[in-house]
Amino acid sequence: MENAVKRIGVLTSGGDAPGMNAAIRSVVRSALAMGIECVGIRRGYEGLIRSDFTLMNSSSVSRIINQGGTVLYTARSEGFRTEEGLRKAAATCKLLGIDGLVVIGGDGTFRGAQALSKYGVSVACIPGTIDNDIGCTDYTIGFDTAANTAVECIDKLRDTMHSHERCSVVEVMGRHAGFLALYVGLAVGATAVLVPETQYDFNAHVAEKIRQARLGGKTNFTIVVAEGAASAVEVGQQIRENVGLDPRVTILGHIQRGGSPTAKDRVMATRMGYEAVRSLAQGHTNRIICAKNEQIVEVDIDEGLAMTKTLNKEEFNVMTVMTGV
Ligand code: F6P
Repeated sequence: MENAVKRIGVLTSGGDAPGMNAAIRSVVRSALAMGIECVGIRRGYEGLIRSDFTLMNSSSVSRIINQGGTVLYTARSEGFRTEEGLRKAAATCKLLGIDGLVVIGGDGTFRGAQALSKYGVSVACIPGTIDNDIGCTDYTIGFDTAANTAVECIDKLRDTMHSHERCSVVEVMGRHAGFLALYVGLAVGATAVLVPETQYDFNAHVAEKIRQARLGGKTNFTIVVAEGAASAVEVGQQIRENVGLDPRVTILGHIQRGGSPTAKDRVMATRMGYEAVRSLAQGHTNRIICAKNEQIVEVDIDEGLAMTKTLNKEEFNVMTVMTGV
């Protein structure tokens, strides 16, 4: 059967995430395998507005599966939020003969794709953000690597906190969500984990947890704070004033966004990249590629963006038990 889709574009947008390169590689190689040309758009939607592109072939994505960051660069485009920007972006797609556009990014990137789809551009979205906060998918590329990076850093902090019998307050990224902090907190055996999904109560969630741990014989403490829950600096200050410890505060920041992707992120990115191209090649339009119960599936972009997700209850309960002793 003649393939109606002859050429697709691919871009990365918003905050980068480890595994984006693996997704780009998969999109390019899957497209070529299906007889479709692939154009790489640089700097996200900004590249569509400025017509900044490069034709991709198999060798342009060689040796990138193991690299953090994104070879296509990324941006948070202000211009794309305007009608003029959207019109220019759609015009670039038309000019380049792009029959479908694969966008790799987070919630904001998908909303951009949704807006662009109204201008006649067919899109397929791949979730790539360390926050894992996209409602319609169980998993977003980059989460596993970021979690492992944070765990590695906190393990190192624990060594010195143990020697000095200190308290460590560590701020973890995640924007408005606590998925990353909760997961990391479980993995490091934190004394307390603060997430934005729960109303912050210093006495119940920090002071009492430290007291319990102290009564249990502990002399070093690790408090994991999701950036959306509270400021680690302020939590540290409260501990100093109310608990009588002299904590050290670490904001992990953008360290969590870099580094070579884990096997999980490379595999998920590769599977999702393939599905995005397959979806476009089959004539599907305006889809989000999702992970659901270990399967890769697709949902309509409007439906997908209307979905929300909450913290894993079981993980949260286990964290509460583990930090209560
Ligand atoms: O969405 C990914 C993320 O790393 C968030 O966890 C964080 O709040 C934000 O991006 C930081 O954005 P920027 O790179 O623009 O500082």
